[in-house]
Amino acid sequence: MALAVAERSGVTPDVPSHAPHGHSSAPLPEGAPSALVAGLPRTSTDGLVVATATGRRSYANLDHAASTPALDRVLDAVAATMASYASVHRGKGYASAVTTQWYDESRAEVGRFFGVRPDDHVIFTRNTTDSWSLLAHALPADTTVVVFASEHHSTLLPWGPDRTITVPVPRSIAGGLRDLAAALESVTTRHTLVVIAGASNVTGEVWPLAEVVALAHERGARVAVDAAQLAPHRRIDLAASGVDYVAVSGHKLYAPYGTGVLAGRADWLDAAEPYLAGGGATASVTGEEVAWVRGPERHEGGSPNVVGAIALAAACSTLTEHWADVALLEHTLAQRLRLGLAAIPGVRLHSMFGEGSDRVAVVAFTIDGLDSALVATALSVEYGIGVRDGKFCAHQLVDALLADHPAGGASSPVGNREGYAVPGNSSATSGCDAPGIPVTAVRASLGLATRLEHVERLVAAVRRFAAHGPALRYAASADGWVTRDLEGIEETAPQRPW
Ligand SMILES: Cc1ncc(COP(=O)(O)O)c(C=O)c1O
Repeated sequence: MALAVAERSGVTPDVPSHAPHGHSSAPLPEGAPSALVAGLPRTSTDGLVVATATGRRSYANLDHAASTPALDRVLDAVAATMASYASVHRGKGYASAVTTQWYDESRAEVGRFFGVRPDDHVIFTRNTTDSWSLLAHALPADTTVVVFASEHHSTLLPWGPDRTITVPVPRSIAGGLRDLAAALESVTTRHTLVVIAGASNVTGEVWPLAEVVALAHERGARVAVDAAQLAPHRRIDLAASGVDYVAVSGHKLYAPYGTGVLAGRADWLDAAEPYLAGGGATASVTGEEVAWVRGPERHEGGSPNVVGAIALAAACSTLTEHWADVALLEHTLAQRLRLGLAAIPGVRLHSMFGEGSDRVAVVAFTIDGLDSALVATALSVEYGIGVRDGKFCAHQLVDALLADHPAGGASSPVGNREGYAVPGNSSATSGCDAPGIPVTAVRASLGLATRLEHVERLVAAVRRFAAHGPALRYAASADGWVTRDLEGIEETAPQRPW
């Protein structure tokens, strides 16, 4: 991890003169980089400064796919909500009336963001995982789910093995669509649901959703899109695309943790038993009988996460205003990143669909002979860059991608490099990545908190690592890769936030 958060300032500090600098491979548009950031909404990590082995630097946030920072407008909305915060759909007092109105308007705002049809439901959940658990719970009994093995585990697993057909990891769009069609032809149940990621959380690659929907609908199947990685980068419109359901996580959409959305067709949702039975979901209760409401509240039992819903609505409204800025920033920086990394000998970029496929700003790569956990650690310690390493909860996909380039996976990670202790059979893993799996990748994911200088810093750091390895010496420990070379460097412990 980076040594410490030092401060948040409005100014990005100069890069120290002894820090490595990169050379850009892709030409930038006229007027860049100022044109790239001119209209951008600010986020909570803009201006964050961290201590590194080479001095204090602006935090290079290249981990948006894990969690995006919150937009400043989201922070403002949360602060305003807390000032008059009260119960929803329960009280008659002023604060309750305001909170209820804002909660209902949040649902409408989020619905507009996803272009819902008039009779769709927009249900607030905890995150994408929760949204899929809710939909799995609401599926009619006679349903088969068809899903690619490449999906994030939250999207692959909630349906249960008995009613799921898993299509092999796709290696081209045409091949994937062929396999999907064949799987759909084999279904014998009354209902079918195709569940598919709009954009891969590993490679950023994007499915042609119009083709997926046409293929599924022709065969009588519905389509549920995991937009956890698509929605922060591109608009998804249910009415225009014909997609039946969409799920997202607020913490990947510039809002805080704890709020997600499931939006889509009402019929299965209204017919299902409540996902969370309790107050708010009931129409009437007697000693003999319980009648449940229809509509989104049916599945939102208990006091709702009103602050989270308002935060998410603020994020959706801000993104809607800024799609053009998002597109310009991300397209330019992602091009720069891909071309910069691709030009480095020993660096491999990983792809499901091959060169030139449509993608959002997410890049998975490995450096030959270097463990990805070491790379991610050294990027943080030496350069103040935040990325993620591992299998990103998509084990089958990462295994397939790394099998393309066995030399790039670093299965005996750093034994051939001077200055590093070899980490036995385990690389540092985090989140849901299983410990002891040696072959992993690094993922850089861009968004509104990423600047051109951050991308150039990453490319320069990777170039140096590929040629010489990290500058410091690291040893594997139970907590991942650690270095003792930092003794003497001033460390500021971040203040506890409460
Ligand atoms: C594509 C995709 N789907 C689903 C999820 C699960 O999201 P959450 O953990 O917020 O439920 C993630 C998280 O990384 C993801 O990237």
